[in-house]
Amino acid sequence: MNKADLIVGLQWGDEGKGKIVDHMAQTHDYVCRFAGGHNAGHTIVVEGKKYALHLIPSGVLNANAKNIVGNGVVLSPKDFIKEMSQFDNLEGRLFISDKAHLLLPYHALIDQAKERMKGDKAIGTTGKGIGPAYGDKIARVGHRVGELLDTEKLASKVVEFFEQNQAIFEVMEVEVPTKEALIEELEGYKAILAPHITDTTQLIWKVLDEDKKVLLEGAQGTMLDIDHGTYPYVTSSTTVSAGACSGLGINPKDLGKVTGIAKAYCTRVGNGPFPSEDFGDHGEKLRQNGHEFGTTTGRPRRCGWFDAVAMRHAVRVNGVDQISLMKLDVIDGFDEVKVCVAYEIDGQEVNYVPYDLETANPVYKTFPGWDKTEGVRVFDELPDTAKSYIEALEDMVGCKIGIISTSPDREDTIIR
Ligand code: GDP
Ligand code: IMO
Ligand code: MG
Repeated sequence: MNKADLIVGLQWGDEGKGKIVDHMAQTHDYVCRFAGGHNAGHTIVVEGKKYALHLIPSGVLNANAKNIVGNGVVLSPKDFIKEMSQFDNLEGRLFISDKAHLLLPYHALIDQAKERMKGDKAIGTTGKGIGPAYGDKIARVGHRVGELLDTEKLASKVVEFFEQNQAIFEVMEVEVPTKEALIEELEGYKAILAPHITDTTQLIWKVLDEDKKVLLEGAQGTMLDIDHGTYPYVTSSTTVSAGACSGLGINPKDLGKVTGIAKAYCTRVGNGPFPSEDFGDHGEKLRQNGHEFGTTTGRPRRCGWFDAVAMRHAVRVNGVDQISLMKLDVIDGFDEVKVCVAYEIDGQEVNYVPYDLETANPVYKTFPGWDKTEGVRVFDELPDTAKSYIEALEDMVGCKIGIISTSPDREDTIIR
């Protein structure tokens, strides 16, 4: 039986997962999302045309790949439908789990209200309602996609929930719709989504049994994982490999090769610790060279150097077989390139990711820079200093770098 190949983000998201999923989708029959929601923004560039995907798996640009949205995802019907409208050939190749949880407009309003109330302690969420939707799921008051098939019943339950929480909604200044408006809204969703809703657990078991090639597309990154990231400055889901099993209904033995996606430097959007952040000219140069502005919210991304300590943590947590090193070209033209090789915390040198990174200072090692790697497609054609940098990273993190990306384009990819 074939095993499912897995793609996971190893840093704080936006590593370039979309590009590699799209690249690998060319040789896979199914691409599956297992966690997160439309907080994700996966960019794919094919023949110069740019697509931004939030919920639909990045296999959609390959006509032969079918796409599954697993039960671990929180799905905003409104945003999903908007995204679907970019593509006209989705029939029979887009499947949504009936067990995925619904993210409805009030979740986003609650998310935004909570962030406002936190003031300078805000997480810096995408404001899309991810935390409240997962919160309802875990508190067992959420609603699943399968419930869309009976809109009358679903609307009654949602209205009951509004009534029970009226006082909270008032404090948060969250306006809730009437039952009639809600039914109308849900009917609209059902009309478009119903043909795609199915038992995706049965489907994925069947396609694995049939020896089809399955690719699992992670969202966000390891340092944003609810358990293994920089809590509470994280997202509300299991973003690491383990989430692929619970988020799709497969077992650990179904997992095959794990490819971890990492930028050749580091970025983060939103608040929270980021030890190797560069607040000076170098950080700004990375932001400009790398067009580091969020795909989902347009916010400028915080930029800094590759963090080898956090990467070792990510390699172990996810069981990474190979790293795909992205955006090497963004550090073209730097005299020197830095890598964070340890943290200094309360005067002690720490070489793992501890409980709290808030006061961690980076200990850097410096490497010579290079002129140009942009567009290179063969490892041997990289400048010697870039090759040495890649080999040094492999030594520091204890994992092979099997793929190197040198531009946003699908073809500008080195496979070693
Ligand atoms: P994802 O969320 O992990 O899929 O990543 P995003 O799409 O949010 O952000 C990655 C950005 O980098 C996108 O705009 C990609 O088009 C771009 N990108 C991916 N690989 C490369 C690369 O090797 N070089 C450059 N310059 N850009 C890249
Ligand atoms: P992709 O899949 C980068 C960040 C937000 C915020 C924190 C919590 O494109 O890599 P949330 O809205 O999830 O409650 O926000 O997580 N975040 C991301 N950062 N890439 C993402 O997804 C992200 N999804 C969430 O900026 O700091
Ligand atoms: Mg992104």
